[in-house]
Amino acid sequence: MLRIEGIGKHFGGVPALSDVTFRCREGWTTALIGPNGAGKSTLINCISGILAPDTGQIHLQGLRLDGLPAHRRPFLGVGRTFQNLALFPRLTVLENVLCGLTPQGEPSMLRSLLRLPATRHRERLLRLKALEMLDAFGLTDKSQWPVSILSYGDRKRVELARALVSEPRLLLLDEPVAGLNAEETARIGTEIRRLHGAGLTILLVEHDMDLVMSVSDHIVVLDSGRAIASGTPGQIRSDPRVIEAYLGRMSATA
Ligand SMILES: Nc1ncnc2c1ncn2[C@@H]1O[C@H](COP(=O)(O)OP(=O)(O)OP(=O)(O)O)[C@@H](O)[C@H]1O
Ligand SMILES: [Mg+2]
Repeated sequence: MLRIEGIGKHFGGVPALSDVTFRCREGWTTALIGPNGAGKSTLINCISGILAPDTGQIHLQGLRLDGLPAHRRPFLGVGRTFQNLALFPRLTVLENVLCGLTPQGEPSMLRSLLRLPATRHRERLLRLKALEMLDAFGLTDKSQWPVSILSYGDRKRVELARALVSEPRLLLLDEPVAGLNAEETARIGTEIRRLHGAGLTILLVEHDMDLVMSVSDHIVVLDSGRAIASGTPGQIRSDPRVIEAYLGRMSATA
């Protein structure tokens, strides 16, 4: 489904990613793990088009993604959430989720101004779709609340709802449970498993190893911008390089 080949990215001479290569199989949840600063978010940003890689190629179902502008990627079926939430705080929950609907087939400015029946019909359909998504996330009661007054956990779920409303083929999740309590984390975990069960391809960046180990089919480990290991959760848990670079350090700080 997703092929990452030889990706390199520098920031002012400092390498954030060096020759990273791996694949995400269709319908699988692939986790990308590694220490702070390993380059995980940088890679997610390269896939979603926020950053352009310096070297390498990114293919989604055979179509080359790198080089395409970020605003075209939702058309191609790439949805994402952000590590540091990227919601519009003054807009309502519903409006934020509506922002996730791709402008595919958007009527012209003139048609919008005239508010022709077809345009109104389309608006109603989009609203219905967004409301269905809010319902699935238990956010219906808060649909008219401005996002700024929501709890952090609810905001994380609004982000997920926004990423999913356009029905992506590939979902990129950058630390979806960071800062959440155990109950909220379990809720997101259940949601990820449900999406996996529905056949969605997921690339998950996360430091919560219980979550990673319980939802992933395959894990790729980044350290200092390089992919140092990949395998099943069982293989990764017992890989001496991964324990040395990441898991060992995590248990030492836990
Ligand atoms: N926009 C930027 N400008 C300069 N340096 C950056 C930028 N974004 C990331 N970096 C650097 O690139 C490296 C990789 O950062 P990145 O955010 O991808 O790490 P990460 O694996 O997501 O870490 P974390 O687990 O803390 O989120 C770091 O050294 C970081 O300081
Ligand atoms: Mg990050």
